Amino acid sequence: MSLVINNKAKELEIPGIRQFSNQLIRYPNAINLTIGQPDFPTPDAVKSAAIAAIENNQTGYSHNAGLLELREATSSFFKDTYGFWYDPETEVLITNGASEGIDSIFRAILNIGDEVILPAPIYSAYGSLIEMCGAKVVYLDTTDTDFLPSPERLKALVTAQTKAILFNFPSNPTGVTIPPELMDEIVLILEQHDVFILSDEIYSENTFEGNHYSFASYPQLRNRLFLIHGLSKSHSMTGWRIGFALGPAKYMQHVVKVHLYNAICASLPSQYAGIEALTTCRQVPAVMNVEYIKRLNFIYARLISMGLNVVRPNGAFYIFPSIKKFEMTSFEFATRLLHEGGVAVVPGSTFTKYGEGYIRISYAYAMSELKEGIRRLEQFIARLG
Ligand SMILES: Cc1ncc(COP(=O)(O)O)c(C=O)c1O
Repeated sequence: MSLVINNKAKELEIPGIRQFSNQLIRYPNAINLTIGQPDFPTPDAVKSAAIAAIENNQTGYSHNAGLLELREATSSFFKDTYGFWYDPETEVLITNGASEGIDSIFRAILNIGDEVILPAPIYSAYGSLIEMCGAKVVYLDTTDTDFLPSPERLKALVTAQTKAILFNFPSNPTGVTIPPELMDEIVLILEQHDVFILSDEIYSENTFEGNHYSFASYPQLRNRLFLIHGLSKSHSMTGWRIGFALGPAKYMQHVVKVHLYNAICASLPSQYAGIEALTTCRQVPAVMNVEYIKRLNFIYARLISMGLNVVRPNGAFYIFPSIKKFEMTSFEFATRLLHEGGVAVVPGSTFTKYGEGYIRISYAYAMSELKEGIRRLEQFIARLG
């Protein structure tokens, strides 16, 4: 046997975000606007619940699908907030962050040669996970439709090989949310095709104007839709690794098997923390949103005043201005901005080739840092002329 690594693993690329944060170490005075995690501490009540769990020796394995109490809290949260119901016994799975939920669902449903449609630019993990399953990614270009999926284009991309279509609104990296009228149009198309729908709504609680609308609210999709969610963003719990995967019992029984062989269960103290987050701390995201909205208003106005083309986001904590007019790749732009301007942002090409010509700025940073970062960006752009 030769020591040859799996071809698909070999082909995986290190995410551009990581490549960039790694470079940052060499620039200690740079302003870092790359990271997609809230800059707020995890709520005290959540931390106390985990500490109490540890002190009470709740440190072992849980049920593979997660503590029933947490699954019930998850189910109640969605029922109370969005009006749809998933059975905590058979339709809710607690995962190690949304990431593991996405992976377990893909591995449970995809066969070699299947196609998955992704509106792009999009969070890069999906494509890599799909390819690891031997399936093919089919991108739906949203760059000329304000980063929203065009129903006509979607219709044209569905083939006999299409196994699933994934949506992520509010979106990473663009921050846009999907208007309910457009969702209605898209659902009309989805109704005509026997495909799985995955909806990653991890940023739903970070919706700024108006309500978040969930694909899980459409009863006609209920028997083939997976909802992906988690506490990383809503409750500033990225390191706790608590995610949720919800879907029809008939399919979730298989997703749970993939999850249990991979992970056995999510961390137990984190699961106790999760119960607290979903019960006594439901108002937490709204408090963070007050800050995010102030930052968004500031940054959006400044980018416009610099003459950058930008779609105004309405959620998550990202903004995705175009840098096409500077006639360099987004990697080149971001590298020069870091070296010459002292600001780190993520090159848009990290979010598939459809993100080329853009940069992603995270505003999950204190206003003082944002102000300095934007001031440096403006100076850098002025020097480019
Ligand atoms: C769209 C999207 N989905 C999933 C994740 C992963 O979340 P988690 O920390 O829960 O694994 C991220 C993280 O940035 C994300 O942006």
